Amino acid sequence: MSVGDEMMAIFHRRHSCRHYLEREVSEEALAFCLEAVALAPSACNRKPWQLVTVRDPELRLQICRHGLLPGIPMPWLAGAPVIMVLCARRELVTHRLAPLFSGIDYLLLDCGIAGEHLVLAATALGLGTCWIGWFRPRYVKKLLHLGWGVQPVALISVGYPAEPADSISAARGE
Ligand SMILES: Cc1cc2nc3c(=O)[nH]c(=O)nc-3n(C[C@H](O)[C@H](O)[C@H](O)COP(=O)(O)O)c2cc1C
Repeated sequence: MSVGDEMMAIFHRRHSCRHYLEREVSEEALAFCLEAVALAPSACNRKPWQLVTVRDPELRLQICRHGLLPGIPMPWLAGAPVIMVLCARRELVTHRLAPLFSGIDYLLLDCGIAGEHLVLAATALGLGTCWIGWFRPRYVKKLLHLGWGVQPVALISVGYPAEPADSISAARGE
């Protein structure tokens, strides 16, 4: 299989995983994903993201109980062994002044690219992920004692899928 075919297979395999096995995710696997994040491009090469790995069951429970917004039930999140909290660090020139001229939010754009690097690297390892945007950033920031200027912009659940990706691809007709 060519590298192009392998990459395309990863894109096809990636889907939002909402059902995880209890199996632990190793530090090596997470380091692999974080290396992919570190290679992401960003405006002015600021790399304005920070990822907080939440493995602790009590913290994950608090996020599930109080950190999600109502309307989209996500009971499955409690079963994800890892929640990555994707945070943004806004800087003056690139993220406050430049957008005044262009109207483009480089900070969120950069964080989105970085988060997807994580997701695709995780997919390559056979892990499942799901982006979660329907959450309470202020609650999560307080819970995790995040510093001034560090703003959670998404949660990404990570774990081994309870359903093999191939069966989901097949169900989606791919
Ligand atoms: C920025 C963003 C926020 C999302 N927020 C949520 C969410 O709060 N809860 C959820 O279950 N899925 C969430 N999703 C997952 C989308 O619903 C999902 O990506 C979309 O339906 C396409 O399905 P697929 O990922 O399986 O291809 C989010 C995805 C993105 C990119």
